[in-house]
Amino acid sequence: MVSLAGDLRLALDRVSFALSVGVEPDPWQGDLLRSGSERILLNCSRQSGKSTMSAVIALHRALYHPSSLVLCLAPALRQSQELFGKIAGFYRDLGRPVAPQGERKLSLELENGSRLITLPGSEKTIRGFSGAALLLVDEASRVDDALYYAIRPMLAVSGGSLMMLSTPFGKRGVFYEEWTGGEGWECYEVPAAQCPRIPPEFLEEERATLPSWVYRQEYECSFEETEDQVFTTEMVERAVTPEVTPLFERG
Ligand SMILES: Nc1ncnc2c1ncn2[C@@H]1O[C@H](COP(=O)(O)OP(=O)(O)OP(=O)(O)O)[C@@H](O)[C@H]1O
Ligand SMILES: [Mg+2]
Repeated sequence: MVSLAGDLRLALDRVSFALSVGVEPDPWQGDLLRSGSERILLNCSRQSGKSTMSAVIALHRALYHPSSLVLCLAPALRQSQELFGKIAGFYRDLGRPVAPQGERKLSLELENGSRLITLPGSEKTIRGFSGAALLLVDEASRVDDALYYAIRPMLAVSGGSLMMLSTPFGKRGVFYEEWTGGEGWECYEVPAAQCPRIPPEFLEEERATLPSWVYRQEYECSFEETEDQVFTTEMVERAVTPEVTPLFERG
């Protein structure tokens, strides 16, 4: 049983909250948990702890801000199930059961009126929700741009926060564009070398085994030319002029 003073501390301090669910934050995770920014981008290595942070932050918002809607998006069903599993696991660690129905629907309804929902990200799934206090996009480089365009207006009305976490996936899409040229974001870059759980010997083995662009993408936060690209992004950008109207609209 957490005392009132203890609970107040958890409400005000997300690092303490993370510790209370068994996560001792890495330095970058600590910085993120202490941040008050409402627009955050994280460009992180594989296995650095993105989804773990998503789960901690989502659950904290739902628990300590009554009547909040917290939406967590991931590119596909498997990823949203995995994220929900982490959230439900932390919730159970706090001694609160998760109803089987919630488990099926990938949603938690809390006694304080908050709702926490994880969704596979397509623009169609998001329409119909409104007033999100927090929108969290895991693996943001792989969700459709249409989804991003669908969620932004929701934030305008609710005044909610937006956080996108991802490993890079080519020089394309909203995550790449916001990371390279967006305004108003607090940005974090976390290469694998900064993750204390990834041993240097493992990284050396990966570097020796993987194609170099894959290694840079997965472990060094690098936006690489996409595999199927014959021309580099710079070549395409140099060749394109905004003055010319395309002959055909893209399908
Ligand atoms: N601060 C931490 N302390 C201990 N373990 C941690 C911490 N952060 C993350 N982990 C563990 O590291 C592993 C990877 O974490 P997580 O799944 O959150 O990373 P990810 O960046 O989302 O990975 P992926 O790129 O595969 O999606 C998990 O086993 C998780 O429990
Ligand atoms: Mg993840």
